[in-house]
Amino acid sequence: MRTITWNTGSQCLTYIDQTRLPAEQVSVETRSVTRLADGIQRLEVRGAPALGVAGGYGVALSCLSHQEEMAPAFRESVIRDAAHLRATRPTAINLTWGIDRVLQTALQENTPAAAYAAALREAQAIEEEDVALCHRIGEFGAKLLPDTCTVLTHCNAGALACVEWGTALGVVRSAVKVGKNVSVLSCETRPLNQGSRLTAFELQADDIPVKTIPDSAAAHLMRKGMIDAVVVGADRITPDAVFNKIGTYMHAVCADRHNIPFYVAAPYSTLDLSQKESDITIEERSREELAVCGGKQLMPDGVPVVNPAFDTTPLSLVTAIITDKGILRYPYTELAEHDERVET
Ligand code: MRU
Repeated sequence: MRTITWNTGSQCLTYIDQTRLPAEQVSVETRSVTRLADGIQRLEVRGAPALGVAGGYGVALSCLSHQEEMAPAFRESVIRDAAHLRATRPTAINLTWGIDRVLQTALQENTPAAAYAAALREAQAIEEEDVALCHRIGEFGAKLLPDTCTVLTHCNAGALACVEWGTALGVVRSAVKVGKNVSVLSCETRPLNQGSRLTAFELQADDIPVKTIPDSAAAHLMRKGMIDAVVVGADRITPDAVFNKIGTYMHAVCADRHNIPFYVAAPYSTLDLSQKESDITIEERSREELAVCGGKQLMPDGVPVVNPAFDTTPLSLVTAIITDKGILRYPYTELAEHDERVET
């Protein structure tokens, strides 16, 4: 089953509502851009590659919902919807990338009907490409893992964060597929628990050995020699840093301290070579996400929070970046030079 896809029969977007996992497996079906934008903001659909697909379909939905408008008004409406979608999550570059790719295609057409048809085709192409590229990332990354190993991962960079297979978990799946004996330690990933809810859910479903650990146990387990490699995903990679779920940086620092390889697995579309770490907005999430859990109050009223959704890891701490085009290694001169040379 795909995390996100187009339902051709009822002409709507359908995606798994990740806020309800693991307790309930429910899908959202929508033709509304506003509903989709709200779902992205609430993390019903999340993870950089899945956001790229969602953004692309969001533009197709916008074209569909403005079919009755005349050409100039149609164009303005779709551009406005695209801006609304882009603003939902500022850090994951794939969202903007997917929106812009489909928007550009749609706006080349002369009629709303042709724009919708072109937008839908392009969004479906992004979906199909994601499946293929995750398998390539997996195959490249599998070669880096020892025959028997324990991998630490953070957040969820699996099938649920993509269309299927996954990036970091794609590496694990591909390694298992070629006969390697891989088990996973999944950091719970406070405050929204993508690790304990989603990573554990999808690895268990695939019969891949997984244990959930508190985020704060990672350093201790590294020191005990219980972790052979760290593999995480990315929301954006600039020439100087990897942006990923808050907590990733502390794993990179600890892995460096304990001589454990730290790998980042991400599609090439996650590279943002035109900007620097300092140019990028780190999404700040609500107080409620920290202060309340399962309806239970965790903090006194009135105490403010700092709740960044992502952190940045300098590339000097990243052993290799596993992309769909091959493996990039420190000092990552290809990134600084905007070149596409990679090791395969
Ligand atoms: O806030 P989220 O759940 O969207 O954060 C997701 C992550 O940080 C993932 O690690 C990243 O998007 C890579 S997913 C292949």
